[in-house]
Amino acid sequence: MSFRPCLFVVLAAGKGTRMKSSLPKVLHKIAGQSMLAHVLTTASGIAGGKIAVVVGPDMAAVAAEANRVAPGALIFEQPAQRGTADAVLAAKPGIDAQAGDDVIVLFADTPLVRGAVIERLRAALAAGAGVAVLGFRPKDPAGYGRLLLDDSGALTGIREERDASEDERKISLCNSGVMAFRVPKLSELLSRIGSDNAKGEFYLTDAIALARAYGLKASVVECDESDVLGVNTREHLAAAEAIWQARARSAFLRDGVTMIAPDTVWLHFDTEIAADVSIEPNVVFGAGVKVEEGAQILGFCHIEGAVIGKGARVGPFARFRPGARIGEKVHIGNFVEVKNVTMGEGAKANHLSYLGDGTVGAGANIGAGTIFCNYDGYNKEKTEIGEGAFVGSNTSLVAPIKIGAGAYIGSGSVITKDVSPGALAIERSPQEERPGWAEKFRAVMSRRKAAAQKK
Ligand code: UD1
Ligand code: CA
Repeated sequence: MSFRPCLFVVLAAGKGTRMKSSLPKVLHKIAGQSMLAHVLTTASGIAGGKIAVVVGPDMAAVAAEANRVAPGALIFEQPAQRGTADAVLAAKPGIDAQAGDDVIVLFADTPLVRGAVIERLRAALAAGAGVAVLGFRPKDPAGYGRLLLDDSGALTGIREERDASEDERKISLCNSGVMAFRVPKLSELLSRIGSDNAKGEFYLTDAIALARAYGLKASVVECDESDVLGVNTREHLAAAEAIWQARARSAFLRDGVTMIAPDTVWLHFDTEIAADVSIEPNVVFGAGVKVEEGAQILGFCHIEGAVIGKGARVGPFARFRPGARIGEKVHIGNFVEVKNVTMGEGAKANHLSYLGDGTVGAGANIGAGTIFCNYDGYNKEKTEIGEGAFVGSNTSLVAPIKIGAGAYIGSGSVITKDVSPGALAIERSPQEERPGWAEKFRAVMSRRKAAAQKK
């Protein structure tokens, strides 16, 4: 369906006192991305829409986030937090400049709303409504405004909970806050809203009764709670996170990713996972991860800023930090940490190692307990390991260092000088052996102990 152009007015000026945080509420994150960014990303994805964001005073960080995510958005400042209608009016120049276009109000604290749901509101406008409200029936309606319907089912107004009578509070249909307007002079209508209510605020919800008084039709589009959960507290934030995660996991399962315990896999908003990847329980994805086809991620891995290549097998208990580039069919085993290292096809590091800053050539084998000593307290240096090299267990590679292709490093070595291709480098004191020593030692020790006990 194609719609008229529209202006999204995203309200983000609230202080969010119930979050008990020094961070503005709308910058709190879901799946690693601010709630504001979630809403702006959704709005940006809708064709024919322009975006205006309303921020509070002293909220440079909120404005910066809006600019980052939606560079073309207009930013307006609401000088004092006097309510949602006052907030929309802060964007008056933007609204007036688009006079005649549809206006859709989104709340930055309602981050889960999806494009398809917004399109249904636009369809309600296209079907003749002057104002359309996204309504829902929450499990717990506490705190939400209630939608008032007349006997014919038409929307007549919205009552905030604090102002509602006992009977009105029993209404299960609630206001999500998402509202669409096709009102010729919207800013004029909004400027008629008063503040004669329990909070002394200018409520956007009063626009419904006013619009009807203007002779406009008001309608409700119902959606699921999971689309419009409003975040006012940390508990709500955790609930919204759970909904987001469940959606993302389902999408990956549908796209051909295997997860035997999807509820224990934590995704980031930008996680990319190809088909035929399998993920065992208790895996956490941080920012910037791409997992290529057929890779296996065993249990309890923590992965951020990494590419896990085709057919690689990593974990259990492996940690990938930014810059880890794990090539095709690489094996990484338990308690291995990889940071800023590129590993070529088929390379292996199967046990207990730290690989930081460097490259590991194709087919190289990194033995248990190998450490790339990459940091001297001032600088980070590189370790370069050639193709097919074999690094014995418990080796310290003191960077900067180069190990040539096919070279061998003897176990337990502290390697401080480059090693030529094909050579053996070994750095440890020669082994000494004293025949019969153990028996003599035991005899001496047990005599001494017996003498001590007699005293
Ligand atoms: C609001 C609705 C309520 C609805 C609920 C849905 C009103 C009067 N009430 O209540 O009917 O059920 O959302 O979640 O609209 N904001 C500003 N400036 C302000 C005040 C708020 O920008 O002066 C922004 C906030 O940042 C937030 C949004 O508007 O993104 C909603 O404000 P909030 O105070 O959370 O409203 P609720 O009490 O949740
Ligand atoms: Ca709210």
